[in-house]
Amino acid sequence: MSAPRLAIIGLGLIGGSLARALREAGAAGPIAGYDPDPAQRDAAQRLRVVDHVHDTAAAAVGDADVVVLAVPVLHTAEALRACLPALKADVIVTDVGSTKQSVLDDVERVCGKLPPRFVAAHPIAGTEKSGVAHSQPDLFRRHRVIVTPHAQQDRTAQALVTRLWEAVGARVVEMDARRHDAIFAATSHLPHVLAYSFVDMLAQLDRDHDIFSNAGGGFRDFTRIASSSPQMWHDIVRANAAAVGSLLDRQIDELRQIRTMMRESRWDDLKRLFERARAARERYLAQIE
Ligand SMILES: NC(=O)c1ccc[n+]([C@@H]2O[C@H](COP(=O)([O-])OP(=O)(O)OC[C@H]3O[C@@H](n4cnc5c(N)ncnc54)[C@H](O)[C@@H]3O)[C@@H](O)[C@H]2O)c1
Repeated sequence: MSAPRLAIIGLGLIGGSLARALREAGAAGPIAGYDPDPAQRDAAQRLRVVDHVHDTAAAAVGDADVVVLAVPVLHTAEALRACLPALKADVIVTDVGSTKQSVLDDVERVCGKLPPRFVAAHPIAGTEKSGVAHSQPDLFRRHRVIVTPHAQQDRTAQALVTRLWEAVGARVVEMDARRHDAIFAATSHLPHVLAYSFVDMLAQLDRDHDIFSNAGGGFRDFTRIASSSPQMWHDIVRANAAAVGSLLDRQIDELRQIRTMMRESRWDDLKRLFERARAARERYLAQIE
């Protein structure tokens, strides 16, 4: 296929960044876009993120060879349903959602069975910012994209989606959807729950104390991700609730252990825990360098 015609459904940070990256790379034909939020549609038009902004999803996907669903994960079914009547017979549909099994389940529910040409994908790139105004054409460069093929997967469709991601500088790896969700529950979903919870707890204290106005760099580093989109993270935590919930239970146990060490003045144990954690983080840093 020559450069495929694209439709991006959901003109936010990820949809907008992918459109800009593909255009810069010359890897796509005309790109159409749709978002239900008029402010995102206007910004996408003004910033020329896509070639044509449409008022409905169906109008955006009519000519597309590849449709990218770039919506909060629990909106996948609704977004796909809106596209279905207008899709070309041989269209490839893909997504960018942060959970993968829920997306596969929703697509199966909407279509009756998993379409072979649906390719589930998750770019491991992003920021705490949302909306098309923050989109960046180089967002995916030197980042991974995880593709989670399903039992009916059409490998030609998967290869085309892989080529699109590689064209914008990403490295594509394959993974089972449930394994993906278990891993990202630990490294991404749980940290967001902890950051939101920590900031919320301090915000309640701050009614009486001057906490935030005296916060330093550590507070800023630790809480950056609590600035992420609440809608997006509500959807992710709800869609992956079993995996996130059991890790949250483990984290609560660990915090209780720390509390007990403090109550019992077991300061050496506390220091050992900190040492263990620092060593684990250093191993992680060495691995990614
Ligand atoms: N932000 C990140 O760091 C990041 C990283 C990797 C993957 N993701 C995933 O990418 C997806 C998009 O996230 P984002 O950061 O671009 O969010 P965003 O809030 O910037 O954009 C999402 C857009 O989807 C639109 N939308 C909602 N329902 C829709 C529907 N039914 N049809 C069409 N559009 C609809 C919203 O109006 C919004 O503009 C999410 O599934 C998220 O899990 C995000």
